[in-house]
Amino acid sequence: MSGDGTSFRRAVARSRLAPVAAFPKRFLRVARHDAKVIGTSARWLFASREHHNYTYDLTPLSRDHMAWFVAVTCDVPVATVRGYFAEIERDDALRGHIERATAASARRGLADRRVRYARRIGWYAILRARRPAHVVETGVDKGLGTVVLASALLRNAVDGHPGLLTSLDINPEAGYLARAAPWSDVVTLVVGDSIASIGALDRPVDLFLHDSDHTIKHERREFAAIEPKLAPGAMLITDNVTKTEVLSRHAEKTGRKFLAYRETPDAHWFPGDGIGLAW
Ligand SMILES: C[S@@+](CC[C@H](N)C(=O)[O-])C[C@H]1O[C@@H](n2cnc3c(N)ncnc32)[C@H](O)[C@@H]1O
Repeated sequence: MSGDGTSFRRAVARSRLAPVAAFPKRFLRVARHDAKVIGTSARWLFASREHHNYTYDLTPLSRDHMAWFVAVTCDVPVATVRGYFAEIERDDALRGHIERATAASARRGLADRRVRYARRIGWYAILRARRPAHVVETGVDKGLGTVVLASALLRNAVDGHPGLLTSLDINPEAGYLARAAPWSDVVTLVVGDSIASIGALDRPVDLFLHDSDHTIKHERREFAAIEPKLAPGAMLITDNVTKTEVLSRHAEKTGRKFLAYRETPDAHWFPGDGIGLAW
């Protein structure tokens, strides 16, 4: 009987009725997928307060891929990278500071209490692996990435490799998380358009991270502006890699290697961003 059923299905699959016969199964598949997205979105609407620059955890698989991404691009064992991930995730002083500063901030109505770093733990591991003396980031917002980067530099200093972070944002209210010690000890917040601020940098840059105005034009202008400021062997990172080819093109033009990682948020409707890296 089942043999007959199989032969019948195969015959239908080869006939002109195939699209009609397959429609209910295809409909169910996509409906199940969309219902899951709608459920996650509805839960997020009531559980979260964020209106942009969303925070979330990554799926375990995505976290593992990020560990391998950092291991390959920074040429360190993956076990070392996993150790760096654990280091930042177990940093209770940082977590407590973010929770308290968020609760005390004037914009707490638009921020979540729970601390979730997403791909920023990848940034942390890159700084721990590379031990840069001077890091420049564009785009600070609340300063979540800033304190994560600052934490890596503070740990590097304990290991005998001190470093400083220059954080550029056009918004004078940006960076409230990064105004407390010890993180502020290694951070200089600069207010103004990033292109002008990059032009005014007076010390070589070992690692540059773009996360400001995500238009193609601005991203392109930032990488062009930072080029003459770079120390030999500097690393370039973009937060815009899921949307543009700016950094991959820049890498090709300047004779660098390039690799991209795409994150997968856990239990969030947002499809995620990524880390684009040229070295
Ligand atoms: C996506 S947020 C940065 C997120 C942050 N890096 C983090 O880890 O959470 C983008 C930031 O870029 C800033 N920005 C936008 N245009 C800019 C520009 N032309 N120059 C400098 N900062 C800019 C915005 O004020 C905003 O704070």
